[in-house]
Amino acid sequence: MRPPKVLHRFGGAAAVRQRHIIAALMLTSVMAALLIAFTVPQRALIISSSSSADLDSLTPLPLPNLSDWTSPFFSNDDDLRELEADSTKVNYSPFPVVSSPPVVTILPSPVDNSFVNGEKLPPSFEPSLVSYTAPSPSPSDSFDDLVEESAHIDLKAPPFIPEPGTSDTSIWNLESTQSEAHASDVQLFQPQAPLWPSPADQELVLAKRELEAGPLVSYDPDLYAPLFRNVSTFKRSYELMEKTLKVYIYQEGTRPIFHTPELKGIYASEGWFMKLLEGNKQYTTKDPTRAHLFYLPYSSRRLEYALYVPGSHTILPLSKFVKGYVEMLSAKYFFWNRTRGADHFFVACHDWGPYTTKLHEELRRNAIKALCNADTSEGVFIEGKDVSLPETFIKFPKRPQRDVGGKPVSQRTILAFFAGQMHGRVRPVLVQHWGNNRDPEMQIYASLPKSISKKMSYSQHMKSSKFCICPMGYEVNSPRIVEAIYNGCVPVIIADHFVLPFDEVLNWGEFSVVVLERDIPKLKEILVGISQKRYMDLWMNVNRVQRHFLWHMKPEKYDLFHMVLHSIWFSRLNQIQAH
Ligand SMILES: *[C@@H]1O[C@H](CO)[C@@H](O)[C@H](O)[C@H]1NC(C)=O
Ligand SMILES: *[C@@H]1O[C@H](CO)[C@@H](O)[C@H](O)[C@H]1NC(C)=O
Ligand SMILES: *[C@@H]1O[C@H](CO)[C@@H](O)[C@H](O)[C@H]1NC(C)=O
Repeated sequence: MRPPKVLHRFGGAAAVRQRHIIAALMLTSVMAALLIAFTVPQRALIISSSSSADLDSLTPLPLPNLSDWTSPFFSNDDDLRELEADSTKVNYSPFPVVSSPPVVTILPSPVDNSFVNGEKLPPSFEPSLVSYTAPSPSPSDSFDDLVEESAHIDLKAPPFIPEPGTSDTSIWNLESTQSEAHASDVQLFQPQAPLWPSPADQELVLAKRELEAGPLVSYDPDLYAPLFRNVSTFKRSYELMEKTLKVYIYQEGTRPIFHTPELKGIYASEGWFMKLLEGNKQYTTKDPTRAHLFYLPYSSRRLEYALYVPGSHTILPLSKFVKGYVEMLSAKYFFWNRTRGADHFFVACHDWGPYTTKLHEELRRNAIKALCNADTSEGVFIEGKDVSLPETFIKFPKRPQRDVGGKPVSQRTILAFFAGQMHGRVRPVLVQHWGNNRDPEMQIYASLPKSISKKMSYSQHMKSSKFCICPMGYEVNSPRIVEAIYNGCVPVIIADHFVLPFDEVLNWGEFSVVVLERDIPKLKEILVGISQKRYMDLWMNVNRVQRHFLWHMKPEKYDLFHMVLHSIWFSRLNQIQAH
């Protein structure tokens, strides 16, 4: 038997060293606070205390004179050199180091001095965005019509087709630039070394060391080990998050694009996360100098409402807006520049979420993007750094869990079920092979016929099926995956290049089946080939994993809110080299 965790953490020579480090850290923090108090207020640290930030706050401040700019924490170069010589300095390392192997090739990360030398000034902030007033969402966009289960349709945003010959083409024609974009991202991506250290960095180093200190022994009845890639790593990392993590939420940004969570519909994940984080005391801080992570509180769904011109075939206005927002923040505060955005994140469930970052290189490359549209083939989502956000279809915001549950295995009479619109490349192929009642065991429909839905609703089908087919739509993600999990139906995911939600910690092979697009003709063969015993395991695990995909009005341990937050924390932690 190993000693209990607490003894392990504070026992032995390593612990003595750790205690010294903690003492040193506290001293450093106090000194840093004093330094801030005495050296900074004139310029660098302009923290707005008003939460009623509106368009006025989008007015950029004059650029500071970089030649006499000094770090808020260190008064001169000697301090900085001393810190760099210190063994506890933070190294930003290749990642992810834990669990899944990275697909990205990481270049060495030199200390970036370009900012201090005053190079690379961005194009000026676009005033046209400042005067833009967002219209309120139109009532016709409501999801009321989706509430009826039998009329289950995807109200998906249309895919982006740039008009040939328009100026957008080079930026948005993802099809033609796909492989190039991906290749260049893979090559150029590198974790950003901060321009100067902060106490929060030191806390991340300590957390990383604890994470690497070896497996935990304490048993947690709430965590079923087979669901996780490494339950010990997850549990330890989660505990470190509980103990350490503080997020600063920028107050800037006007409603409704910012600070206005939408809790209903298929994009509700971004809204629920926003609502729960903004209402959270434990994980947030009002003092940005103590923050490990910075949240950009915008909604990709509301960006569409406000800025997309229907039929225009361009999301350029959305990308410009987001670019302007980040430029404003990075001119007003020094936090963005310190890490070039690597400790900043946003959470976006709309299909267009990834593309709204396209005009801001640091946002796209460095910030942690929690996206439903987690597609590695488009060159925006970076596996190992970005976070695959589950898409949840919420019909009743007051009772997000209303539909959770399903029949026992013995009453699941349908082998496989799918009904939905023919979006994207996969679904037509699926219906072509398995639709039209070709095989009574495979209930695959382009849309559920009224004659059938009258007798058995969409959700009743899910509750009565062994497997629920979740083919990609326009984009790789689909709300069906979580919907299947809620209904106790084993999801069968067909979407090549999709990074599954929480893939860095969860073991999807234990509660889902992933089928390659090219294997659609063999779909039934694959499903029938799963033994009864294996199916029972999958089904029980679907029920066990449900809790990690549930939103609660008041977040609960290990629920969806905490899983998303944990993945963002884990990503940041993995950028840090502790030794
Ligand atoms: C910036 O500061 C330096 C030294 O304090 C000064 O020589 C220089 O003229 C300033 N530049 C501007 C643009 O104000
Ligand atoms: C989990 O990770 C720890 C390191 O953090 C390692 O020691 C342990 O062997 C891993 N367990 C499994 C089952 O891979
Ligand atoms: C951050 O860097 C950009 C140039 O990359 C500069 O325009 C901006 O003023 C800097 N922000 C601060 C607060 O110094």
